[in-house]
Amino acid sequence: MNENKHSIETRALSLWYGEFQALYNVSVDIGHGLITSLIGPSGCGKTTLLRCFNRVNERYGNVKTSGEIRILGKNIYDPDVELIELRKSVGMVFQRPNPLPISVYENVVFGLRLHTPAKELTRARLDEAVEEALTDVGLWDDLKDRLKRKATDLQLEQQQKLCIARLLPLKPEIILMDEPCSALDVEATRQIEELMLELAGRYTIVIVTHNMAQARRVSHECLFMLMGELVEHSRTEDLFINPADSRTADYIEGRFG
Ligand SMILES: Nc1ncnc2c1ncn2[C@@H]1O[C@H](COP(=O)(O)OP(=O)(O)OP(=O)(O)O)[C@@H](O)[C@H]1O
Ligand SMILES: [Mg+2]
Repeated sequence: MNENKHSIETRALSLWYGEFQALYNVSVDIGHGLITSLIGPSGCGKTTLLRCFNRVNERYGNVKTSGEIRILGKNIYDPDVELIELRKSVGMVFQRPNPLPISVYENVVFGLRLHTPAKELTRARLDEAVEEALTDVGLWDDLKDRLKRKATDLQLEQQQKLCIARLLPLKPEIILMDEPCSALDVEATRQIEELMLELAGRYTIVIVTHNMAQARRVSHECLFMLMGELVEHSRTEDLFINPADSRTADYIEGRFG
């Protein structure tokens, strides 16, 4: 277990897409085992910041970053950092559930198969990983007799839970979620939120959300961003009841955005 009380630390983090600067000097410490929400108006850089934490931005062409990002105390731009290892410890869940069009079982063990030498992967080890991960996300009872079923045929909220489950066999420290409920209805959203609260503590969760009520319900801390800058990082109840910055107050009271 990580000794550091911060899972993620950035220092003067800036990011450019070509000539366009999308992040300005973001310095933030994200607490270990907490759920932290990134909030702010469309285009303020929430997704960009989230994608910095596993260096996924670099897939999108002409991206340049400056500053530092430390995950569990280690600068992820150090030359000895392996992206594969980084993305194992920093898993990601997307807006639309995106399970692979293969069985439930194979979805859960997909990452494990990629990262583990085949001879170490006995049937028993795989079975155990599947049961543990599906139990952790509350799908085991529903799916234990249907593990061969195609994952893309499941209900949407089951698909999204499965997308969380398939990260778990890799023992991530951090789970990033970019608007994970935006394709889900109210009941499915409630279930995913409940699951996030159950997983907190064991994992550090960073969630991007447009939904202020959701940020309030699920997160311990919130980051409010505006035009690529981090305006405020506060405990959730402070941010909503007594924001430190007048721009935060204007946003949460609906005066813009
Ligand atoms: N691949 C890219 N190339 C160029 N510009 C980009 C790229 N991705 C994002 N941007 C720009 O960077 C800024 C921040 O975008 P980002 O997607 O991080 O915002 P966001 O806060 O997640 O917005 P939303 O709430 O709409 O999802 C926006 O102005 C966006 O147009
Ligand atoms: Mg976004």
